[in-house]
Amino acid sequence: MSRMNTPSPTAPTYRIAPSILSADFARLGDEVRNVIAAGADWIHFDVMDNHYVPNLTFGPMVCQALKPHAVTPSGQPVPIDVHLMVQPVDALAQAFAQAGADLISFHPDASAHVHRSIQAIKAAGCQPGLVFNPALPLDVLDWVIEDIDLILLMSVNPGFGGQSFIDSTLRKVEAARKRIEACGKDIRLEVDGGIKASNIRAVADAGADTFVAGSAIFGKPDYQAEINAMRAALAR
Ligand code: DX5
Ligand code: ZN
Repeated sequence: MSRMNTPSPTAPTYRIAPSILSADFARLGDEVRNVIAAGADWIHFDVMDNHYVPNLTFGPMVCQALKPHAVTPSGQPVPIDVHLMVQPVDALAQAFAQAGADLISFHPDASAHVHRSIQAIKAAGCQPGLVFNPALPLDVLDWVIEDIDLILLMSVNPGFGGQSFIDSTLRKVEAARKRIEACGKDIRLEVDGGIKASNIRAVADAGADTFVAGSAIFGKPDYQAEINAMRAALAR
């Protein structure tokens, strides 16, 4: 995407994925358009079921309603990055694929058959991702890393926006980056929770290339200023 930050030919292509969990739910379509106009690369869509996590957000019908709004001012589509915090996984993953999701990530500890869930997401035409809670090891990647397009590391416990970044995530980012390099496949390494302009550089230095930010962007009046501050930190 031409709107991404590319400080040098060898630097990673960083992506900023604002989480609409912290947007104004009464004006979601406008919020999506506004944050894209402010420079968002992906729209991060946090699905919570009040079962896997102790909170409840939105489902595939809301994704479908927002899909026409996930475009740049010139009409280019912007990927919808669905983060499923649900158990079980498969039926909702299929519903989100039909609702216009581009990437669908799930927590392996929420699926009885992780390999099958990944294949089903791929068969539905989406890019599959695996999400790791702060205390969950990366071991499952030994067996499925070649099959996924995204690793999403939680830097907070899932369920709520506005929490503080858990520092041990940095070591896990380094470990995940090593696994991606060993695999050789182009896999995005995304970090989710407590990201802001003041810590995004450290997360990138550990090896992340994609950054979810909810409250840091939607909690401020000027989305563009926040995204620009993040990009400036990444370009340093
Ligand atoms: C938490 C969600 C996050 C959340 C991040 O369960 O997965 O995407 O929106 O919010 P902030 O950026 O406020 O920590
Ligand atoms: Zn998320």
